[in-house]
Amino acid sequence: MGKMIEQPRVELSKVAVSETHGENSPYFAGWKAYDENPYDELTNSSGVIQMGLAENQVSFDLLEKYLEEHPEASTWGSGFRENALFQDYHGLRSFRTAMASFMEQIRGGRAKFDPDRVVLTAGATAANELLTFILANPGDALLVPTPYYPGFDRDLRWRTGVNIVPIHCDSSNNFQITPQALEAAYNEAEANNTKVRGVLITNPSNPLGATVQRSILEYLLDFVTEKNIHLVSDEIYSGSVFSSSEFVSVAEILEARQYKEAERVHIVYSLSKDLGLPGFRVGTIYSYNDSVVTTARRMSSFTLISSQTQHLLACMLSDKKFTENYIGTNRERLRKRYQMIIEGLRSVGIECLKGNAGLFCWMNLSPLLEKPNKEGELELWNAFLHEVKLNISPGSSCRCSEPGWFRVCFANMSEHTLEVALERIRNFMERINKEYKVY
Ligand SMILES: Cc1ncc(COP(=O)(O)O)c(C=O)c1O
Repeated sequence: MGKMIEQPRVELSKVAVSETHGENSPYFAGWKAYDENPYDELTNSSGVIQMGLAENQVSFDLLEKYLEEHPEASTWGSGFRENALFQDYHGLRSFRTAMASFMEQIRGGRAKFDPDRVVLTAGATAANELLTFILANPGDALLVPTPYYPGFDRDLRWRTGVNIVPIHCDSSNNFQITPQALEAAYNEAEANNTKVRGVLITNPSNPLGATVQRSILEYLLDFVTEKNIHLVSDEIYSGSVFSSSEFVSVAEILEARQYKEAERVHIVYSLSKDLGLPGFRVGTIYSYNDSVVTTARRMSSFTLISSQTQHLLACMLSDKKFTENYIGTNRERLRKRYQMIIEGLRSVGIECLKGNAGLFCWMNLSPLLEKPNKEGELELWNAFLHEVKLNISPGSSCRCSEPGWFRVCFANMSEHTLEVALERIRNFMERINKEYKVY
């Protein structure tokens, strides 16, 4: 933090001093350990490999090639002044149109999106927080199936004052949401006099790397209608499903229902995962509720996307030849990576949940736990971080109720680095097996 300045004991707001940000969780602690000693193939081959970051680097070459071939997307010419001055919080019409059509394309054309309902935000982080501000009051709750993306503790709770009530899912049915778990979460909130405002799901799920079944989506829609609450579907990985036909968006179901009860449904999307552009901060809220669209647009003033970024992506996403090739190639490369990691893990006796999407797999290390609880899980996580030198995310940081599960990212590194990581796991397992035999 540079030069030390004496800190006067002056009071800050409740939000500023609140612990609900979640920065102390192992999810973020692992990132710190990586930052202090990052693996590099040439200069630091014994460093920590970052497998806790859901980043997609497998298709950068395609983006770079596009930029090389289309300098007009990233250079200005006569458009400089127009873009420099542009500050309408509705966003560039050309970009919203391109975004709506890209969202249709990754759903195999099975759902339609209206550019006038696309609200632009600086990433899905902002989209999720903004929606929570609009749907719930401080002290109210959103029901969220576990395990869930650790960032939700920050995004949904911290500044909004809204609570997350977990819908506990477990391995007995591949962590899918059950009606019983949903009812139990709802009843728990009610028993605590907490008003439930909605259910928020991630489809495909982070950290499971699996899509939500159509029958569950149908059930969820009926449930939120019966309770008169909202359904938020974070579909940030929708273009990272290995095969488009395996993904059902809530948008498709609404279309089949002729948009009945659609005004309680909101979709969150961003280009951070599918295009691998988290640094560009490009997200969207797509709501079927007119008031939510209007309010979200007003609120988006706090979290806009620069017009330069919008211009570039408007060019890129409206180029159908490019997007078609990108979507197909990216899916195929992710599927291959997934196959590579699960086969590597299986060969040393480690099983993963069967996945069909995303940038990670959900690895079951419960047979290795010395203590079958959260403490045992964190001990194993610590051994992975400091001995094996891999940063993976423990299930407890995703509020998983079953100890021993870990999220392992595979798309934020080269194939070679992934091989090194698998080799380290292989050595670790051999050592454990030997120790086990000695006893
Ligand atoms: C489910 C989910 N939602 C939201 C985000 C945040 O994405 P963004 O970078 O667009 O803010 C992530 C990122 O990991 C995520 O996994």
